[in-house]
Amino acid sequence: MRLAVLVSGTGSILEAMLDAGLPVQVVGADRPCRGLRIAEAAGLDTVLLARSQWTGAPDADGRTSNQGFEREGYSRELAAALHGRGADVVAMAGFGTVLDSSFFAWDGGRYRERVLNTHPSLLPAFPGWHAVRDALAAGADESGCTVHLAIPEVDAGPILAQRAVPVRHGDDVTTLHERIKAAERELYPATIAAFVNDLNF
Ligand code: GRF
Repeated sequence: MRLAVLVSGTGSILEAMLDAGLPVQVVGADRPCRGLRIAEAAGLDTVLLARSQWTGAPDADGRTSNQGFEREGYSRELAAALHGRGADVVAMAGFGTVLDSSFFAWDGGRYRERVLNTHPSLLPAFPGWHAVRDALAAGADESGCTVHLAIPEVDAGPILAQRAVPVRHGDDVTTLHERIKAAERELYPATIAAFVNDLNF
């Protein structure tokens, strides 16, 4: 079994996967990021499929926007690139691009039920990009993380594991997210290991 990990940010969860000895074959990124540099330093195969190259013209501030982002073509190309590098199972670890259904359907559905994600809340509470901020804003006294099978709908799909963490007095997004990520660094690698074990590769 060979694992692809998708990153966009600091890659601390990728580091935890490597420390856990998961068979990471390739790391994919949608932008240059620390996660990609970690992969390179570990001598792993990497794929940088820059989201910006699948996006319409930059706006007046020089930023590329979601408008015109060719999600379907991007997702298909990413599936082909990961498969070309031998990936059987894909784990998103702070990946900033929502995969289109074309990713899951690629090559007759090769990656259907083969993509996992970790999300920094106890789903179905607080889906979306601002899960930590939203939990704080709601006054929740606990939050946590959810590892689930990814489907084309965002932060949905069968839940494989969850772990709660307390929200402490005085928490801000950074302190709460770091407490949640500490849980993710344990729960996600262990859940991936159990998942691939059950696949009987
Ligand atoms: C994690 O909290 C993950 O759930 C979220 O992004 C964070 C990634 O952290 N989607 P890192 O980049 O691995 O440090």
